[in-house]
Amino acid sequence: MSDATNVPNDLNAFWMPFTANRQFKKQPRMFVGAKDMHYTTSDGREVLDGTAGLWCCNAGHCRPKITEAIQQQAGELDYAPAFQMGHPKAFQLANRLVDVAPDGMDHVFFTNSGSESVETSLKIALAYHKVKGEGSRTRLVGRERGYHGVNFGGISVGGIVANRKMFGTLLTGVDHLPHTHLPDQNAFTRGEPEHGGDLADELERIVALHDASTVAAVIVEPVAGSTGVLIPPKGYLKRLRDICTKHGILLIFDEVITGFGRLGSPFAAQHFDVMPDMITTAKGLTNGVIPMGAVFVSNEIHDAFMNGPEHLIEFFHGYTYSGNPIASAAGLATLETYAEEGLLTRAADLDSYWADALHSLKDAKHVIDIRNIGLIGAIELEGIAGEPTKRAFSCFLDAYERGLLIRTTGDTIALSPPLIIEKSHIDQLVDTLRTVLNEAA
Ligand SMILES: Cc1ncc(COP(=O)(O)O)c(C=O)c1O
Repeated sequence: MSDATNVPNDLNAFWMPFTANRQFKKQPRMFVGAKDMHYTTSDGREVLDGTAGLWCCNAGHCRPKITEAIQQQAGELDYAPAFQMGHPKAFQLANRLVDVAPDGMDHVFFTNSGSESVETSLKIALAYHKVKGEGSRTRLVGRERGYHGVNFGGISVGGIVANRKMFGTLLTGVDHLPHTHLPDQNAFTRGEPEHGGDLADELERIVALHDASTVAAVIVEPVAGSTGVLIPPKGYLKRLRDICTKHGILLIFDEVITGFGRLGSPFAAQHFDVMPDMITTAKGLTNGVIPMGAVFVSNEIHDAFMNGPEHLIEFFHGYTYSGNPIASAAGLATLETYAEEGLLTRAADLDSYWADALHSLKDAKHVIDIRNIGLIGAIELEGIAGEPTKRAFSCFLDAYERGLLIRTTGDTIALSPPLIIEKSHIDQLVDTLRTVLNEAA
């Protein structure tokens, strides 16, 4: 096999993440280039990006400003120690980020991924209660079908069985809210479903069981992505907020996919007008180009740590690459690109066109539900009896052959295109999907 980088070479050594390795290596799918809305495959085909990479390339691909910023930074200051030393761009980026964050969230802790942002937020929550003199608040609450990355804290509060069942007892002291997917009542809803807002009241039951004095934080994705796009029922997030406030429990929104414009506002917190105490982000922060995450923290939480002798470290946590110079340069250029092109609110302009296009697939073969919000869409298929996930995965393979990148989770097709998408791309995406669905076995 060739070692050239534009054709598949020996595929054996690389154990691919979240991939059917044996299937892939028999029938590889390789991207060798990308520009704006398209990837180029190793056999020279253009593939329309219906997923912004992995929900991260919100400004599309190979955007000049971001590329140049990375190139320049690599030649100017490649690395600076993240502990007890600084460099200007990390501070500049933090300032630009809090400018777009909800009011009162004026502090940012840098990480390298969504998973690390989640771990960081959970640790801040526990430590916050400790510094406030409420160290008995150690319990964490997540939600069934939630995805919060792959580290131990994240899979403990997460609610995806396959991500949990192989890994022992996980964190202790974790409870889960019920998920909000109610297909019998909410199928084919545009935007927020009518039914299920009262499921937030389950938090009262959990609090009553353990007593509020033991509960540190609740973490939820405002829109759950990885388990097939679950959009919060009307009023649900506000009720969660109210119950958390009533009991002194911190509310964390995991906005790793909803952050940076996906719903038509910079963050889902603004879209739903519900303010959490922390927001976890990554992905769109650098347009997916360089690994970087950030946890946005309320002023109250941050300020609670800023006590004691000034020569002492206030919070024993951080990463070698927290606020890395090249990632910071990429983040700054990404935010500039978003601002210049109005991308943090563009999903709101396209919302109804996107919804009409997606829901036009209602009569396509196998479709049992369609859900959408902002520039997110989900098409749920009836699974093949006894072979869950197979039908959707076949659709993924066929769509790729037909020049469209989609993502599937279970038997749901999840869509999250770059926010630069044009109406003509939406038409192409939906037409291709219609063919794929109607030809699927
Ligand atoms: C809501 C949410 N949280 C956390 C993560 C984990 O992010 P990463 O893969 O960067 O660790 C993801 C990734 O898809 C996500 O969707």
